[in-house]
Amino acid sequence: MRARIVRMTEEKLDREALAQAGEILRRGGLVAFPTETVYGLGGNALDPEASRKIYEAKGRPSDNPLIVHIADLEHLEPLVEKIPEKARILAKKCWPGPLTMIFSKSSLVPEATTGGLPSVAVRMPDHQVALELIRQAGGYVAAPSANTSGRPSPTEAAHVEADLGDRIDMIVDGGPVGIGLESTIVDFTEEVPTILRPGYLNQQMLEELIGQVRMDRGLTLEAGVRPKAPGMKYKHYAPKGDLTIVEGPGQRVVEEINRLAQEKCLQGFRVGIIAVEETAPSYTQGMVKCIGSRKDEESIARQLYRVLRDFDALEADYIYSEAFETPRMGQAIMNRLLKAAGHKIIKV
Ligand code: TXA
Ligand code: MG
Repeated sequence: MRARIVRMTEEKLDREALAQAGEILRRGGLVAFPTETVYGLGGNALDPEASRKIYEAKGRPSDNPLIVHIADLEHLEPLVEKIPEKARILAKKCWPGPLTMIFSKSSLVPEATTGGLPSVAVRMPDHQVALELIRQAGGYVAAPSANTSGRPSPTEAAHVEADLGDRIDMIVDGGPVGIGLESTIVDFTEEVPTILRPGYLNQQMLEELIGQVRMDRGLTLEAGVRPKAPGMKYKHYAPKGDLTIVEGPGQRVVEEINRLAQEKCLQGFRVGIIAVEETAPSYTQGMVKCIGSRKDEESIARQLYRVLRDFDALEADYIYSEAFETPRMGQAIMNRLLKAAGHKIIKV
């Protein structure tokens, strides 16, 4: 089976194709679709068999729960036991948007979708193609990122096709995504709302809306503390090459990366360097990829996964990256980059 690919934009939806995609989902098939964060691999969230197919297509461990995507606020109520007041506020202010919230689940949600957990993750994506598809599918679409488990998340349809093109029914190509990192996950089953995965919406932005919000202790990697989102414990987002992050003052970082790259090049390895517009001209070794500009952190977030995939295609053996502790999204960017690097970081 080769996935059928249909193209459209948010401005000009192909409603006929989306009706067909919705029909595939209703009948238990799999359709990949764009959201504002990354591409999702959709299946009917209320159908345990569809969820099983998602795990199989991705090669994902079945204890790692899926996010249920909805298009209308009234579809939240039936999925959950209760909606805490602060969650209601976030739903009103941030949905549709890059926010996933976790609640105690109702009996409507099969355990096959929640990886056996008594809680359910719910999100309303800010993308017209996704919203229309969810409505056509009956309102509840389970969707992890549409990559093979362990590979970088897909930010364009070609990434989905490369990973899953022979395992799913349809890919809706809506062009490159806007944000490029997965949604912020906030757990409302804890007494204090807790961020399990950082994203475009950061702790400070959420606290301005609902008061105190905690970071999951598992995120800071204190020895022995397990992240609460099962998906955050896996080595993830990984390129095939051996990735190391070099952190420190700009000039020192460039010197150290040049030194490391030269060493590996001399040994005959293929070396990739993740640079920014400001530093790219200073690198003298290896294959240099520009991820964006330090003046525009959103450009860095948007291109991170694509650059990691590019280095796979170039068969880089070793990859060196600068660190990106940018003011607003730095935490989300570094969370993904550190995982991609298996936490290998050199401080200069
Ligand atoms: O931006 C996104 O959220 C994208 C797009 C497609 O919407 N989706 C996405 O799904 O990133 P996925 O499956 O790749 O990541 C879901 C994360 C995993 O780390 C999973 O462990 C966590 O959410 N998660 C889901 N349900 C959970 C639950 N009930 N309790 C704790 N963590 C949960
Ligand atoms: Mg994922």
